[in-house]
Amino acid sequence: MKSIQILDAKHHVGETVQIGAWIANKRSSGKIAFLQLRDGTAYFQGIVVKSEVGEDVFQLAKNLSQETAVLITGEIREDSRSKFGYEIGISGIEVVGESHDYPITPKEHGTDFLMDHRHLWLRSSKQHAIMQIRNEIIRATYEFFNQNGFIKIDPPILTGSAPEGTTDLFETNYFDQKAYLSQSGQLYMEAAAMAFGKVFSFGPTFRAEKSKTRRHLIEFWMIEPEMAFMHQEESLEVQEQYVAFLVQSVLDNCDYALDVLGRDREVLQKYTKLPFPRISYDDAVELLQKNGFDDIQWGDDFGSPHETFIANSFDQPVFILNYPKAIKPFYMKPHPTREDVVICADMIAPEGYGEIIGGSERAIDHEYLLEQIKAHGLDENEYSWYLDLRKYGSVPHTGFGLGLERTVTWLSGIEHVRESIPFPRLLNRIYP
Ligand code: 4AD
Ligand code: MG
Repeated sequence: MKSIQILDAKHHVGETVQIGAWIANKRSSGKIAFLQLRDGTAYFQGIVVKSEVGEDVFQLAKNLSQETAVLITGEIREDSRSKFGYEIGISGIEVVGESHDYPITPKEHGTDFLMDHRHLWLRSSKQHAIMQIRNEIIRATYEFFNQNGFIKIDPPILTGSAPEGTTDLFETNYFDQKAYLSQSGQLYMEAAAMAFGKVFSFGPTFRAEKSKTRRHLIEFWMIEPEMAFMHQEESLEVQEQYVAFLVQSVLDNCDYALDVLGRDREVLQKYTKLPFPRISYDDAVELLQKNGFDDIQWGDDFGSPHETFIANSFDQPVFILNYPKAIKPFYMKPHPTREDVVICADMIAPEGYGEIIGGSERAIDHEYLLEQIKAHGLDENEYSWYLDLRKYGSVPHTGFGLGLERTVTWLSGIEHVRESIPFPRLLNRIYP
């Protein structure tokens, strides 16, 4: 007999097959039992009719508890009443792993309880849908960059440098030296761009940020492209094409997940239209001040209420260009005619999801960079390899980082970034 996965049921209508699954839910009457089966690819219904299977199998079915693992034998049938479209008429059940008093029941549970049981919470249909969207964004990322002539480069996780500032570093011992967990692979990606032209990375990054918000993780995954011989405007085009491609891929390939999450496809469709709007930092400050945000002055960084207001003024993701130099990292290219701003852009997602991309053109002048490294209190010896890049054929280049979890959160339309990664590391939470 053939073993299949639920998602493939449509190819086996009329056949008797075997499926390994867990019991997600069940209901029964005196003569018939309905088992909600889950195997990680999809959910569907198994039907056990007492008069067909006999007393023993029927009693077994009636007594199956939530999350019992079973091998089900039965015939695949069309089921026009269910959204999935197929069901299985069960003839045999073998219990593989028992389950008693499963802690997550169909009733509502508090967030702390669910987070403590994240290893089990992952089995729920909503979490399943979110992980499918995450998987599609990862798949589409490789497709986009491969199609556009980028090569994937893996920067190290253990590093001696701090590209995004020294306040939120995780420090560890590296034999008799100090090392940090990577905050960003950028500096290494710049070296790679000088070697290979167009490169991208995808890997975990770490920030010991004391922020407890619905957008911050301590460990998150970032996609960091870096492109030689490229200025900001061309980079913004790559960024908007990439994000629109991700949205389109989710629309094309995540039907089931979008249904489970109740995500409005028409809303997502708007994010596939190019170009995305652009607004300068200066104009963004003015827009906020005109609309009653008297807490913001030129020179301040935006908080999430500010980002949300700016985003709500547009109906696509929006780029905010050229922030004050004083609030950005040391490596950004100075503006050619203004002392006070750098050539950079953040992409702010719609619907209050905040910044999903941070990027910039990079400073390419050796003397300027050395000065900035010192001014930011960094040890120039630790950056001598990076400064080498400005000695041997330094060219205009630009890059950006897209936060995977913020993008998953946004496209899934969920409340909090903690559900966008299988095992979130949050302030004061490293378990499970
Ligand atoms: O803006 P950030 O800090 O930029 C960089 O790290 C650059 N070195 C990237 C580059 O140019 N190669 O981070 C980039 C993105 C943010 O826009 C956000 O989406 C995400 O990473 N991010 C976080 N996501 C979850 N939790 C956090 N604590 C995050 N910090 C940044
Ligand atoms: Mg940023």
